[in-house]
Amino acid sequence: MKSLVSIDDLSPENVRSLVDRALDPHKTLADLNAEPVSLIFLEPSTRTRVSFECAVHGLNGRPIVIQENGSSFEKEETLKDTLLNLKAMGIRVHIIRCKAENEITKLAKEGFHVVNGGDGTREHPTQALLDLTTLKSLTPKWDDLNKKTLCIVGDLRSSRVARSWAALAPKVGINLRLCSPAAWKPWHWGEGTFHTEKLKEAIEGADFVMALRVQKERHSGDSLGLHLEDYVRDFQISRNNLASNALLMHPGPINWGVELNSDLQNDNRSIIMLQVKMGLSLRKVVLSQIFESLP
Ligand code: CP
Repeated sequence: MKSLVSIDDLSPENVRSLVDRALDPHKTLADLNAEPVSLIFLEPSTRTRVSFECAVHGLNGRPIVIQENGSSFEKEETLKDTLLNLKAMGIRVHIIRCKAENEITKLAKEGFHVVNGGDGTREHPTQALLDLTTLKSLTPKWDDLNKKTLCIVGDLRSSRVARSWAALAPKVGINLRLCSPAAWKPWHWGEGTFHTEKLKEAIEGADFVMALRVQKERHSGDSLGLHLEDYVRDFQISRNNLASNALLMHPGPINWGVELNSDLQNDNRSIIMLQVKMGLSLRKVVLSQIFESLP
């Protein structure tokens, strides 16, 4: 694996191997031997950026963080020119988060070694993979995941995580249900994936329920296409509507009181911090596999 841009780049065997390796307590990983790795974050991030920084440190590499503020992105330098300059400094691998939806794909096609840390509303492959690592850590055998249902609820149209999951679920046999108001139903992905506008129908019998943040910044103008109070009334996950045996997930950051009721803050059904923990392990494995494939 020379880059990771999309879940579509991975076969079911690749997916299982990444997850199994992330969960292997005795794994050996690449030693970066102080090599720098760039983290170019042109949209806000806490979990993805910090876990990739920790992953680079964990592989004995040196993370070089570049954000829009204070870099030549403010002077309209392009991503490609930035990568050419970083390459000239000896940086071979780049983790990128950006608004543009096909930019990281183009850079990979041009021969750069890139990891997609979230590109607009398109994909967030390492988030879906770390979610899967979390589910697998709770499920002894891969075959058992075939019997599990994951329900993703919320602002689907804005969600690169849900979109990556729509590609990932069929590769591992997880039954995926999507739930959102009509205004937030994705129009350009998710064909063939079960979708409902009824929360009760969506979460009934689901083993895992993942709530999504309402991404106000991605909706056009100030219009969400619906009233937020209606969304909270009809779609918010709370202590009462989450089944006693269902586990609660969220990619973060959480807007408490919107997609999740604050009564779930200390709920023992939450595996949200386990997701964060698995993120570090999974991202170390992704970087290790990329470095192992380089000459
Ligand atoms: N889940 C996720 O991508 O979080 P950040 O935006 O904080 O990186």
